Amino acid sequence: MTADGGFPGHTGSSATEMPPLVQAPRPPVPANSEVSSSEAVPLRQPAPSVELGPTGRPMPHLPEPKPLTSHGNARVIAMCNQKGGVGKTTTTINLGASLAEYGRKVLLVDFDPQGSLSVGLGLHPHEMEYTIYNLVMEPDVTLDDVVVPSGVAGMDLLPSNIDLSAAEVQLVHEVAREQTLQRVLAPALEKYDVILIDCQPSLGLLTVNALTAAHGVIVPLECEYFALRGVALLKTTIDKVKERLNPGLEIDGVLGTMFDGRTLHGREVLERLVQAWGDKVFHTVIRRTVKFSDSTVAGEPITSYASSSTGAEAYRQLAREVLARCLDG
Ligand SMILES: Nc1ncnc2c1ncn2[C@@H]1O[C@H](COP(=O)(O)OP(=O)(O)OP(=O)(O)O)[C@@H](O)[C@H]1O
Ligand SMILES: [Mg+2]
Repeated sequence: MTADGGFPGHTGSSATEMPPLVQAPRPPVPANSEVSSSEAVPLRQPAPSVELGPTGRPMPHLPEPKPLTSHGNARVIAMCNQKGGVGKTTTTINLGASLAEYGRKVLLVDFDPQGSLSVGLGLHPHEMEYTIYNLVMEPDVTLDDVVVPSGVAGMDLLPSNIDLSAAEVQLVHEVAREQTLQRVLAPALEKYDVILIDCQPSLGLLTVNALTAAHGVIVPLECEYFALRGVALLKTTIDKVKERLNPGLEIDGVLGTMFDGRTLHGREVLERLVQAWGDKVFHTVIRRTVKFSDSTVAGEPITSYASSSTGAEAYRQLAREVLARCLDG
């Protein structure tokens, strides 16, 4: 990445200066021209054509996940990007709901004082008895006191509201302040298969707590040029947390969101992402559709609000990719 936070070769120049998009390789033509039409079986079958995904790479086969016979040993994944409105909360809700559909026990952690994850699952910010704030700041409050059902079978939620903004200030005076979330989540690891933490759009102490508690990070990125700026700073923060606080931290993947396949622009941004992050970029890309805002208003995941929509299918595909990449592997 370049010093200005952009990507190698990204000069902000016009679309005409971009490298060409990857073309689909053509299957070889069978050399059976001497075979008459009555001889039905050709000597050589043509190779099946390679299906290229939206990121310009061949789509891998993503198998149906196998059901689990026992639960626990959760992988903790932080959904992180300091840029606002890139799809962190939408991805947390819908990836979580898709993983739950595949039989995984899921805990969602709303670690954003905006509380969008909680509201997006139908909770009212002022009607919560306990929130993650109480769990983080009050030693007598246990995980079981705060966990609520999400409305999706197999998926629970640690809700949040504006109270959490006070924790950022109060935690500054705590011993091991960066490890606070890791400490309070520890009892949940044996109960769940995956814990998804929805981060706020900043790289402050709450996000550092989420990165310290996590085994992996997923970076949702809107498929537009300005989204690429600032990613270098995010990478630096992840590297610092890895070096100083959490040596096992991995980047589980970079997810293109709000993709519009009709524009060259969106495809170029995906191409840049693959140049910069290689195989870390998920093959799954989430397209732009108003169904996501509609499902937020309805207070439920798109997988139940519009179960057969392309948005729901995209998040199910992402769940299969995440399972194959870092959960079932
Ligand atoms: N693929 C999509 N297509 C269209 N709209 C989307 C898509 N994904 C998310 N949105 C909408 O964009 C808005 C921002 O999404 P979301 O809240 O998930 O982003 P965020 O990164 O969590 O934001 P913040 O940084 O404020 O927490 C929401 O209104 C959401 O419904
Ligand atoms: Mg959010």
